[in-house]
Amino acid sequence: MEQFQNVALIGFMGAGKSSIGRRVAQKIGSLFVDGDGAIEAQAGKSPATIFEEDGEPAFRQLEREVTTKLSKGRRLVIATGGGAFLDVKIRESLLKHCFVIFLDAPFEVLWERIAGDPKRPLLAGEGAKERTRTLFEQRRPVYSKAHATVLAALPMEDVVNEIVASVAARWQGEVSPDTGTK
Ligand code: S3P
Repeated sequence: MEQFQNVALIGFMGAGKSSIGRRVAQKIGSLFVDGDGAIEAQAGKSPATIFEEDGEPAFRQLEREVTTKLSKGRRLVIATGGGAFLDVKIRESLLKHCFVIFLDAPFEVLWERIAGDPKRPLLAGEGAKERTRTLFEQRRPVYSKAHATVLAALPMEDVVNEIVASVAARWQGEVSPDTGTK
C-alpha cells in the first residue's frame, strides 16, 4: 500500500464527514480541516450565501481552489464538501496526495439527517427528496473511486476506530514493518 500525506473524507451530505473527521484527527494527533469552513474563510461568507449570491459555479470554482490546495498539505484530516470529489481536478489531487475514504450510508439514513437543513442549499425547493436521491445515485459510483470505503451508518465511535486503524499504517515514513501494508 502506498503512503499518503493526508486523510480525506468524502461522501454525501449527512455522512458525518466533519464530525468523524474531527474525532479521527483528535485520535491520531493531526490537524482537522473542514473544506466548507476553509471556503467560508477564504470567501468571507458561508457556502449557502455563496450559492445564493454568486451561484453554484462560483462556489465550485472556489471549492476547486481551496480543496486542491488543502490536498497538498501535510498530515491533515480533511472533510470535503459532498460535491468536491465529483470535480475531476479535485478528485485527481485528492487521490494523489491523500488517503481517500468514502463514508457510505443508505440514502434514507442520510436523508433523515439532512432533510430541511437551511445550510444545505441543494436541498431547497419542491421535490427535494427525489432530486437529492437522484443526485446520490449519480454520485455513488464516483465516490466509490476512493481508496477505501467505510460504512458510516454504524455508531460514530466504531466508524472513527475503523478509520484510525487503517490510517495509522499509512502515514508517510511511519509504516511499521509488521503491518503488512507496504
Ligand atoms: C454540497 C455539500 C455541502 C456543501 C455544499 C454543496 C454538495 O457540504 O459543500 O452545500 O454538493 O453535496 P456537506 O457535504 O458537508 O453538506
